[in-house]
Amino acid sequence: ALRRAHNLHWQHLDVDKAARARIKGQVPRCVWFTGLSGAGKSTIANRVDRRLHAMGFHTFVLDGDNVRHGLNRDLGFTEADRVENIRRVAEVAKLMTDAGLIVLVSFISPFRAERRMARELFAPGEFVEVFVDTPLDVAERRDVKGLYAKARAGQIPNFTGISSPYERPEAAELVLDTTAADADALAQRVIDYLTR
Ligand code: PPS
Repeated sequence: ALRRAHNLHWQHLDVDKAARARIKGQVPRCVWFTGLSGAGKSTIANRVDRRLHAMGFHTFVLDGDNVRHGLNRDLGFTEADRVENIRRVAEVAKLMTDAGLIVLVSFISPFRAERRMARELFAPGEFVEVFVDTPLDVAERRDVKGLYAKARAGQIPNFTGISSPYERPEAAELVLDTTAADADALAQRVIDYLTR
């Protein structure tokens, strides 16, 4: 990839991120939700989005299930494909943050190295990692989409938590225990963190 970029130069733009954000009256952020399938990432991100939007902030949600229908429709769930999935999404989130938005990113993003790679694209304090901490047995018992049952039956290869690893975050800005509080209360904790 480095070699391919060899003859490319970075085009300097006069209107920078700070100027774009100032027009919106907000501090751009990338709020990165990570956790098992069915942990509650999308539910919580959606509630955070709704509230921030109601408060007058300009937000956007990038969600695994949706992005995989378009930009990343060529990718599956092998380790290499997940790495590429997260790389692209991190770059898109960075572009959106540069545009002054508060971006809510909701992907399993199971690998620590890729989450670190994503974080490193952002300025200090701009990347907020939110671990939606739902134990495997709880996610599996809920099985909202019926995917765990299929994975156990051998019908979905490389399923996170069953036949593909999930590496727990070690230094997330926020850890949300979904067995201890409901989605509204957890969404409020994210809002409090962002607005404190
Ligand atoms: S990843 O690991 O970050 O690339 O995954 P992501 O892009 O977030 O996509 C996860 C959603 O895809 C569905 N799905 C699977 N998940 C895990 N493993 C396998 N093999 C798989 N196949 C399909 C599943 O609905 C995930 O949705 P969420 O919202 O996380 O439950």
